[in-house]
Amino acid sequence: MSKAAKQGRVVVVGSINTDLVARAPHLPRPGETISGQEFSQVAGGKGANQAVAAARIGAHVAMVGCVGSDANGDQRLRDLEAEGIDCAGIETSESQPTGVALITVSDEGQNTIVVVAGSNGELTPEGVQRHEAMLRAADVVVCQLESPWDAVHATLALARRLGKTTVLNPAPATEPLPAEWMPLIDYLVPNEVEAAILAGLPVESESGARRAAMELQRAGARNVIVTLGAQGAYLLREGGEGAHFAAPEVQAVDTTAAGDTFIGVFASQLAARQPLDAAIGLAQRAAAISVTRAGAQPSIPTREEVERFA
Ligand code: RIB
Repeated sequence: MSKAAKQGRVVVVGSINTDLVARAPHLPRPGETISGQEFSQVAGGKGANQAVAAARIGAHVAMVGCVGSDANGDQRLRDLEAEGIDCAGIETSESQPTGVALITVSDEGQNTIVVVAGSNGELTPEGVQRHEAMLRAADVVVCQLESPWDAVHATLALARRLGKTTVLNPAPATEPLPAEWMPLIDYLVPNEVEAAILAGLPVESESGARRAAMELQRAGARNVIVTLGAQGAYLLREGGEGAHFAAPEVQAVDTTAAGDTFIGVFASQLAARQPLDAAIGLAQRAAAISVTRAGAQPSIPTREEVERFA
């Protein structure tokens, strides 16, 4: 996409990782050693994946985060710059290595992920505030939970003070969000597992997603979108109107970064002032393409690929 055609400004505050990926016939059980078929090292991190998804679909994207002073950090910066992402908000830690994720992907396309935060853990509220000018220029500010929670809270509070639209992808979720965060969130976008942890309710179906979304809206989030993988997504709009969006049917090879693709594309469409239904539809198509390909950032489609997808 040409620079002139880019629309909407998205700032992603979040994690940048190098993914070390082993492909194996099945996911190993505790204590089991198995032979893998393939190893690859690719660009990942929920924040960086979301930034790349927004950039490839056509948004102006800037990122705030932290890499280590090492070869992985240099490579991740080069990768993000090659996507046209403004990396002026990415600082370098002298004490921690760039974050890594150890990922195993099975032949069924299921995965396990262990993240070692490294330099991502060095992002501070002051670090976010240093890049206030970047947030001021944004239409939409996106964050996740792979960064220290005080930095995420500072991001949401600063974005709210600046009058920006906020998107929180509460991944990974370990416990309910602090009550004071909820009114700072315009779009809370958990998957079914995260929604269940946040709302304290089981989420196995559309009706479970609706109940969890209502609970999270009652707690203060303006709009809630629960992504349900192959079962689609459930949107609960501000005001209480709900809708289910069926997912395109595809053969999954690797679901890594499917949620990140959804979030990045969705945020780009909010920034471009597209209607909510259209934003979710485009995000679902992009995520569906991503699961048919291996790896995190290598799997994220361009706008042309999403437009070609029937
Ligand atoms: O959401 C997928 C991402 O989670 C991977 O790229 C990995 O780095 C972890 O952050």
